[in-house]
Amino acid sequence: MKHFLTVVILGAAVVTLVSAAGTDGAISFEYHRYEELRKALVSVWLQCPTITRIYTIGESFEGRELLVLEMSDNPGTHEPGEPEFKYIANMHGNEAVGRELLIYLAQYLCNQYQQGNETIIDLIHNTRIHLMPSMNPDGFEKAASQPGEIKDWFVGRSNAQGVDLNRNFPDLDRIIYINEREGGANNHLLQNMKKAVDENTKLAPETKAVIHWIMDIPFVLSANLHGGDVVANYPYDETRTGSTHEYSASPDDVMFKSLARAYSMYNPVMSDPHRAPCRKNDDDSSFKDGITNGGAWYSVPGGMQDFNYLSSNSFEITLELSCDKFPNEETLKSYWEQNRNSLVNYIEQVHRGVKGFIRDLQGNPISNATVSVEGIDHDITTAKDGDYWRLLAPGNYKVAASAPGYLTVIKKVAVPYSPATRVDFELESLMERKEEEREELMDWWKMMSETLNF
Ligand SMILES: *[C@@H]1O[C@H](CO)[C@@H](O)[C@H](O)[C@H]1NC(C)=O
Ligand SMILES: *[C@@H]1O[C@H](CO)[C@@H](O)[C@H](O)[C@H]1NC(C)=O
Ligand SMILES: [Zn+2]
Repeated sequence: MKHFLTVVILGAAVVTLVSAAGTDGAISFEYHRYEELRKALVSVWLQCPTITRIYTIGESFEGRELLVLEMSDNPGTHEPGEPEFKYIANMHGNEAVGRELLIYLAQYLCNQYQQGNETIIDLIHNTRIHLMPSMNPDGFEKAASQPGEIKDWFVGRSNAQGVDLNRNFPDLDRIIYINEREGGANNHLLQNMKKAVDENTKLAPETKAVIHWIMDIPFVLSANLHGGDVVANYPYDETRTGSTHEYSASPDDVMFKSLARAYSMYNPVMSDPHRAPCRKNDDDSSFKDGITNGGAWYSVPGGMQDFNYLSSNSFEITLELSCDKFPNEETLKSYWEQNRNSLVNYIEQVHRGVKGFIRDLQGNPISNATVSVEGIDHDITTAKDGDYWRLLAPGNYKVAASAPGYLTVIKKVAVPYSPATRVDFELESLMERKEEEREELMDWWKMMSETLNF
């Protein structure tokens, strides 16, 4: 008996030592109901108050808050030049793994930051990270309150009104497919239509809140965490012809594949070429290296992934993290271990491509200027400080900066895998150009009159 006690005490001492040396000591691998989720986020905030902030983007149908934990060296503000990133999980309320992983990720980043992990310190100092563990807290409560370990495949998927939130976004794919054929905008397709969003009674409160969030913050990169399969899925999700399975490349297909791989590669289960399908009859024929084009897998209209790409600057992929949507609590630690490096590595992808500022000749920022890349029919725009981030796969590109009333500037840029190449643009306003030309003309006239002795 005495011997046993000593072992227990020793065991405890070892645990303390190990956690001080930088493992996942402070993470408790368990499910968090709504109140527990709030408490978990608050305790991260209490532990790391200088680099975190909790805010809410709105409420669910039943009045639960859509909570976000922000991690940044200056929480609450967009720092000029610093890219913004977001993870959203548990949009399908019964897909529970992502929700827990984002709580653990918040705890991990806070712990590692405090322990002086250079990788994590750099990441938090140079990125504004937003984590939303649950976009569908009502659905989760419904799924979680089923008795017993085994949960129904569908209970809690939709929000409390019965709306599948990942089919509820404005179907911008339909618009882009028309614009591709007939000409028209290739980005920000909901520009100047916020009022129409607010007045649309078909949109669930959760969807509306997230649409505003997407359009208000200059996100560069994001991912939407789901369950039920194991794969990293990239745009487009909706097929061009409306058929059920058809590869549906976006203009940024090369970069999207690279982004999806940046997640799958670090997840040993997702990237395992010999992984058996989750269920015997599943058709995984479109999966390769743990990634798939959305449309090639199955067509999804009204999803959040394509909405991000077509309504904002944010590139988004959809991550399927577990065969089981609501697995036993004892397995949560193993999901964390499978996904930890992927979750961190994917955030780091926000620092790829080309970035910089667009200003006028006096150095004033030009917001809402357009950044176009030759050969890629998808433009992005500058944020309010004239800052931009254009994700690009390695290669040589011609990048153009333009804005109404200014002369367009084109630069050649070599892009490595990472980090992003800094390219600033100074645009001359057409008014200035006219003024210059007028002055030149006056000088010439003066010279001529002097020479000719008028
Ligand atoms: C620091 O964080 C990185 C990224 O999560 C991780 O790979 C590395 O193991 C951590 N270093 C230590 C000493 O824990
Ligand atoms: C941004 O520019 C586009 C087109 O150049 C315009 O339609 C839109 O209203 C502008 N948005 C803002 C917020 O100024
Ligand atoms: Zn889902």
